[in-house]
Amino acid sequence: MAEYEAGGGYQSARKALTSLTPEAVRDEVRKAALRGRGGAGFPAGAKWGFVPQDGAGPRYLCVNADEGEPGTFKDRRILTRTPHLLLEGIIIASYAVGVHTAFVYIRGEYEMIARRLEAAVAEAYACGCLGRRVLGSEFGLDVLVHRGAGAYVCGEETALLESLEGKRGWPRLKPPFPATIGLFRQPTVIQNVETLANLPRLMADGAAAFLALGRPKDGGTRLFGVSGTVVRPGLYERAVGTPLREIIFEDAGGLPPGRRLKAVIPGGLSSPLLLPDEINVAMDVDSLAAAGSMLGSAGIIVIADDTPIVTVLDRMASFYAHESCGQCTPCRLGTSWLAKIASRLAKGEGRPGDPAEIERVAGLVRGRTLCPLGDAAALPILALTRKFRTELDAAVAHPRPPEAPR
Ligand SMILES: Cc1cc2nc3c(=O)[nH]c(=O)nc-3n(C[C@H](O)[C@H](O)[C@H](O)COP(=O)(O)O)c2cc1C
Ligand code: SF4
Repeated sequence: MAEYEAGGGYQSARKALTSLTPEAVRDEVRKAALRGRGGAGFPAGAKWGFVPQDGAGPRYLCVNADEGEPGTFKDRRILTRTPHLLLEGIIIASYAVGVHTAFVYIRGEYEMIARRLEAAVAEAYACGCLGRRVLGSEFGLDVLVHRGAGAYVCGEETALLESLEGKRGWPRLKPPFPATIGLFRQPTVIQNVETLANLPRLMADGAAAFLALGRPKDGGTRLFGVSGTVVRPGLYERAVGTPLREIIFEDAGGLPPGRRLKAVIPGGLSSPLLLPDEINVAMDVDSLAAAGSMLGSAGIIVIADDTPIVTVLDRMASFYAHESCGQCTPCRLGTSWLAKIASRLAKGEGRPGDPAEIERVAGLVRGRTLCPLGDAAALPILALTRKFRTELDAAVAHPRPPEAPR
């Protein structure tokens, strides 16, 4: 806390609470074009605008600290190294929307991280940054840390609400959207950790400066996580819109000697992969969508030429089959069927019709499920079968020996 305050910590929240109205804060965030960092890239200011300001009951903020997307490791860094940055963001968002109780839903496996966050919350209460009179103002805010049990689907916003209410983490049908009927049927804003952690700087520098860092409809910087076959895997903060090629080859040092690029998953496992000639794309929400992929959580996974594509397919399919909550038939049956075929391909036991069957089944899952996990499984698998069909057919015709178990 002392270190955070010495660096100007909590000054943005103080400024918002003492010199700006909630409307003015909402307006500033809207002008800054802050897009959600959790996956869907929805503008935060617009989301806050959907919350009714007139109802009598409470409104809630739920911070999504579930971070279960393979390839994504940015929120845990914020939670571990700069938890007060998140808490300051929570204060600013809560003030702007009229929230007096905020929940941080943190992944069950993040035991040490949850303890650090809980310690930071206690410090913030002790210093008057949380509680009845936040930073000496008339505004009151309580923050509660809730530990999940470690299910990927609980990162989906409505499953997160169910889980927070003490129920099984099954996604809800939308609409209604949480902004009007959310936690305990009250208006609720659900926001990713990194999205909120951007607010202190946004408020300190102003919307124009924040926007100027990124793209006209997607402001600021993002934490790009680079994993896979690169010289310097890690987390790199770069302007929104930085070319993917630059992040892989300059920040992460490119691939080790002798290895060549085969494909890149640009935004966490749910995002369709890109080929080497597609990586000049700018890393912002709209550019990735135009390139047929997704910026998602900005977790970049680099795949080298010596990685069999059936291995990638097998890992993808088995992940989604394991994480499907089973509530809807196309996802429950489709993901397990995909996993079964992918597994036999990876073992060198593929059958001639398997690549076409994978495409057919993924096509049946796509667009037919209650929550986006179905599409998150189908879209990357469809992209893989389309872009690597020759290699999949070759894997059936000339199977490699199976990989040694890890
Ligand atoms: C299966 C699934 C898992 C998700 N996991 C996360 C997660 O771990 N963290 C997160 O912030 N968003 C996750 N999301 C996205 C959330 O549903 C939601 O869009 C996000 O938390 C909203 O915050 P943002 O607008 O600040 O990005 C997930 C979505 C799906 C469909
Ligand atoms: S799409 Fe999958 S994870 Fe989502 S509700 Fe249906 S079965 Fe559950």
